[in-house]
Amino acid sequence: MSNNNIIIFDTTLRDGEQSLKASLTVKEKLQIALALERLGVDVMEVGFPVSSAGDFDSVQTIARHIKNSRVAALSRAVAKDIDAAYEALKVAEAFRIHTFIASSALHVEAKLKRSFDDVVEMAVAAVKRARGYTDDVEFSCEDAGRTGIDNICRIVEAAINAGATTVNIPDTVGFCLPNEYGNIIHQVMNRVPNIDKAIVSVHCHNDLGMATANSLTAVQNGARQIECTINGIGERAGNTALEEVVMAIKTRQEFMGVDTRINTQEIHRVSQMVSQLCNMPIQPNKAIVGSNAFAHSSGIHQDGMLKNKNTYEIMSPETIGLKKEKLNLTARSGRAAVKGHMADMGYTESDYDLDKLYEAFLQLADKKGQVFDYDLEALAFIDMQQGEENRLKLDVITTQLISGLPASAFVQVELDGVRQSATSQGGNGPVEATYNAIMNIVGMELKMSHYNLTAKGEGAEALGQVDIVVEYEGRKFHGVGLATDIVESSARALIHAINAIYRSKKVADIKAKK
Ligand code: KIV
Ligand code: ZN
Repeated sequence: MSNNNIIIFDTTLRDGEQSLKASLTVKEKLQIALALERLGVDVMEVGFPVSSAGDFDSVQTIARHIKNSRVAALSRAVAKDIDAAYEALKVAEAFRIHTFIASSALHVEAKLKRSFDDVVEMAVAAVKRARGYTDDVEFSCEDAGRTGIDNICRIVEAAINAGATTVNIPDTVGFCLPNEYGNIIHQVMNRVPNIDKAIVSVHCHNDLGMATANSLTAVQNGARQIECTINGIGERAGNTALEEVVMAIKTRQEFMGVDTRINTQEIHRVSQMVSQLCNMPIQPNKAIVGSNAFAHSSGIHQDGMLKNKNTYEIMSPETIGLKKEKLNLTARSGRAAVKGHMADMGYTESDYDLDKLYEAFLQLADKKGQVFDYDLEALAFIDMQQGEENRLKLDVITTQLISGLPASAFVQVELDGVRQSATSQGGNGPVEATYNAIMNIVGMELKMSHYNLTAKGEGAEALGQVDIVVEYEGRKFHGVGLATDIVESSARALIHAINAIYRSKKVADIKAKK
């Protein structure tokens, strides 16, 4: 491998996923993993198999499907974790076991209640155990950003001697400043005698907004793997954003002198998918993938752009897969046009159900007039999910709001194919009245812990996307709804969450019978 290739290690489905309010389903994780594979990530870390049966299952499912990226799973420096990681990963075409233990005095004493000597011994034993399963083993010394340099060098040398092929130096709490972190990597590269036997990796958190800068400074000092997530999601303020480091390396290639294998044309699509499935809206001014990232507002900027794009554009939107306007999609468009737009966005027919998508598209086009690519994506990947194995389906909603009086709602649904309805009076507004009516029908007490409304598109024709998290019997369930009317999108989000509850109850019943 050439020494100017930067290995992109994506941890959206591990560090990113562990920060979500409600976890993703196996199907959603697989959908993201397939998109990451198309994006061309070298390694994707997809879970922590020992942490739950669900995590084990999703790591195994992804390991079975991914052919063009290496699949990794996390484990503490503990035998049972490493064994679980191997059991989940062994079906993969190519896999990596990632094992970690904390190295800072604070973590070693306060959290692990051990000596540093014990920690080095545990690290060595863990790496050796993992090497018994594979010759691709990554070792991370957690909280390296706050670990004395002598201890970092000592544990890294011991891990490489034990067989680690990648050594990761995480700034776990996003504490370091760029020159400080660059210097840690410089010391590791120059003081660890066997460092030529391993790839040095960096894993930065964004607590002080330094994650991208720290990762790039580390590369300038010799690191050759960057750990990152789509849209920078992850613990607290998140991880290094994949799209930021990749586009910085590409746009400033002469200065950086390195490259990645990422197919940047896929960035926009995977960013939208992660945002929607993870229920994590993207701030409009987010670098690379925010909706304003390529928008020019002031007259002076627009004038400059018309004269020469380079005046205010350092990279073109097409590089990340943002397409110029194409033929309009309206109710008169045929299946081929819908399929063509999906293909332009990089989706093949096996990613979605064209019949269902076309039917949903026609209904939307009737209501909305023109349908945009982001509408199609949302229909394919949000509404379609809601159409699957769903016990509860929405039929009719009518609401009444007379100023000064409580709102009321009438809702008709199909539950297991049987039509049922309820009326609710006395809500604070039409959404609450609708929610009360739906909960009356299904006889469930749900606590709403999160409600978020985002406009998809612009102006009065925009679709409203509602993302909610509800709590039921101590568990959190995520629901997404999309419609031109916000009461309807709210109702659809609740129905999506209730169907997820029904599915989880079914799984629990099956397990109880075993
Ligand atoms: O932030 C961190 O230190 C981690 C490790 C497990 C790599 O996520
Ligand atoms: Zn992390």
